[in-house]
Amino acid sequence: MKPVKDIYKNIAKKYTETYSDKEYPTDKYVDQFVSMMPKEARILDAGCGDASYTDIFLSKGFSVEGIDISEEMIKIARKKFPKANFKIGDLRKVNLKEKIYDGILCMQGTCHIAKKYHDHILKEFYKGLKEDGILFLTVQEGEGEGLTYWPLAGTEIFTSHYQLDEIKEKLTSIGFNIIFTDIYSPCKGDYQNNKLAIMARK
Ligand SMILES: C[S@@+](CC[C@H](N)C(=O)[O-])C[C@H]1O[C@@H](n2cnc3c(N)ncnc32)[C@H](O)[C@@H]1O
Repeated sequence: MKPVKDIYKNIAKKYTETYSDKEYPTDKYVDQFVSMMPKEARILDAGCGDASYTDIFLSKGFSVEGIDISEEMIKIARKKFPKANFKIGDLRKVNLKEKIYDGILCMQGTCHIAKKYHDHILKEFYKGLKEDGILFLTVQEGEGEGLTYWPLAGTEIFTSHYQLDEIKEKLTSIGFNIIFTDIYSPCKGDYQNNKLAIMARK
């Protein structure tokens, strides 16, 4: 099985070209996330990739930090947004400072990570959020985890999947209050699973 990092190294440029400059089903959720943020919000984009929503956050006067395991994706994010703070890091080992973020965006940031690490990651998100802070999370809908064919990369890649009740229960057991959930369809080039969107408050 090819490591996720190596796959992203090969497709970083193509990923960015494919998904930028087009309407994406998550745009409306991100608008809502933004509307829930206070002035000068501090945002963490976990598994940020090329940081596709950083322009909106910066335009609102928010500060943005991003973390991603792929050096190539972080390189692209830094080039696009020199004012944000991006670092290479592994969410499986993430250790956030307590109560520092107003919002955490994790859009498919855990989808290539084995589910045994997800409790740790989501608990760290909870810890890192201020009281009443907001998590916007998207995951792949489906059962279990394993290799999935990804047309964009032309290869299989490790992917984790959730049923809606399963991810809701996980989040509520950690202490999150679910604000809303939704299901959206994949866009062109994406895996063919539907995706789950969850907005939750600490
Ligand atoms: C499907 S992309 C999503 C990127 C971005 N959030 C977006 O919505 O466009 C998944 C991202 O997770 C990153 N990733 C995979 N495993 C990771 C890990 N263990 N720690 C941090 N990032 C990881 C990948 O490098 C990739 O950029």
